[in-house]
Amino acid sequence: MNTRKRPNNLWLGRWGFILAATGSAVGLGNIWKFPYMTGEYGGGAFVLVYLLCIFAVGVPVMMIEIAFGRRGRGSPIDAIRRLARESGRSAGWSLLGWMAMICGFMILSFYVVVAGWSFSYLWKTLSGGLSGASVEDMAAIFEANNANPWTLGAWSTLVTVITMLIVGLGVQKGIEKNVSWMMPGMVIMLGIMIGYAMFSGGFGEGVAFLFSFEIGKLTSEGLLAALGHAFFTLSLASGAILTYGSYLPDNSSIARTTLTVAFSDTVVALMAGLAIFPVIFANGLDPSAGPGLLFMSLPLAFQSMPFGTVFETIFFVMLSMAALTSSISMIEATVAWLNESKGISRAKAAWGSGILLWLISTLAMLSFNIGADWTLASKNVFDWLDFLTSRFLMPLGGLGMTLMAGFVLRNEILKSELALPTVGYVLWLYMVRYVSPLGIVLIFIDSLGLMDLDMGSQWTWWLGVLIAISVFGELANPRLKRQFGS
Ligand code: TRP
Repeated sequence: MNTRKRPNNLWLGRWGFILAATGSAVGLGNIWKFPYMTGEYGGGAFVLVYLLCIFAVGVPVMMIEIAFGRRGRGSPIDAIRRLARESGRSAGWSLLGWMAMICGFMILSFYVVVAGWSFSYLWKTLSGGLSGASVEDMAAIFEANNANPWTLGAWSTLVTVITMLIVGLGVQKGIEKNVSWMMPGMVIMLGIMIGYAMFSGGFGEGVAFLFSFEIGKLTSEGLLAALGHAFFTLSLASGAILTYGSYLPDNSSIARTTLTVAFSDTVVALMAGLAIFPVIFANGLDPSAGPGLLFMSLPLAFQSMPFGTVFETIFFVMLSMAALTSSISMIEATVAWLNESKGISRAKAAWGSGILLWLISTLAMLSFNIGADWTLASKNVFDWLDFLTSRFLMPLGGLGMTLMAGFVLRNEILKSELALPTVGYVLWLYMVRYVSPLGIVLIFIDSLGLMDLDMGSQWTWWLGVLIAISVFGELANPRLKRQFGS
């Protein structure tokens, strides 16, 4: 039975998917979160495990998502339902699509608040609001920026409106057209920033901080944070990549495009580190300043440097663009579903979901001022959205997809979709069946606080035993052997 739907929306250019998916992946996660996490978890050691996580878990899962999207040709809900049917499995698997779509929506509702910070700092830089500020002033400016719900809300509303405008215009005229200039522009600006950092006087120190590997600094907490961030930074398990994949032409190689996107995302994260840390070190500031690194420490550093305002402007333009190319991808799953499945026009779907998004994001925005103590279990709305998505929906969704790809669907489906040479396919299958799910279960268990995953604890040993058993199990798997005629 052929359940495949004819694609009605495909990327126009050869680079359409790559630019859009890289745009989705590269965002606040790379430029805001990655540097401060690296700062907090001790530099090079964290960078190394992060790279491992990207390639051992992130890449195989991204390949699944693109393959699901392209095979099912539709929003996460529809695509996964079609795939399940094609394999003679329950349509109930589409629940995974629902989870992904809701997860993307929830992430976006707090993401627009942080993106709003970026826009407001761009404005402050341009209007001279940051000049001559001291360390204490910077903290006070950041607090004041958050304290006024009207201005803070205006900035996140602006981000929401721009996002909906672009998505409402459609896949090619909105998304593809805008990422096609925003992404190259962003990379050029990042290059300029690194050039500037080279002359800041702290470049050597910055490089050493990012790339000197000291195993002693690696904590189990840093390890799990790296795994969780690999999911976030590649926009996985939230409908974004799957939906973009549904517009991918049949003749593009999924493995090659995935590697390009993952590689670019990693390069941008490292470039952001190279742009930021030298400036921080040159000014004797603390690299482990946490989430305030970009909004308090960095502006402070710029203030004391020649042409600081110019480069600070470039920096916040770049950050704002990176945020926008990500935010459009988070709502695309919802808009695609409303459009394809419910027959609502794209513009109406974008504005309709935009209004709902605006309501929820307003609650998230209020967490920084009047709603600071609307809490449940000492978490406010913003914290809950972040916690539920990064600790539950993303790991669970990712786990569901690896299980579905590894054990539920008929092997031939993904095999033909991925079109890999045998060695590559077996490697991928092994990752998807064992390495990725185990990694995900690990984050999950840790986030529930069920056990203490210390490097030396007995749990870690049991896990090692489990992995070893699975490796041998797979090597001895007769069905796999038969399949490849070896
Ligand atoms: N990957 C983006 C970043 O690093 C964030 C992002 C975009 C995202 N789309 C997503 C995160 C979907 C999770 C899910 O900033």
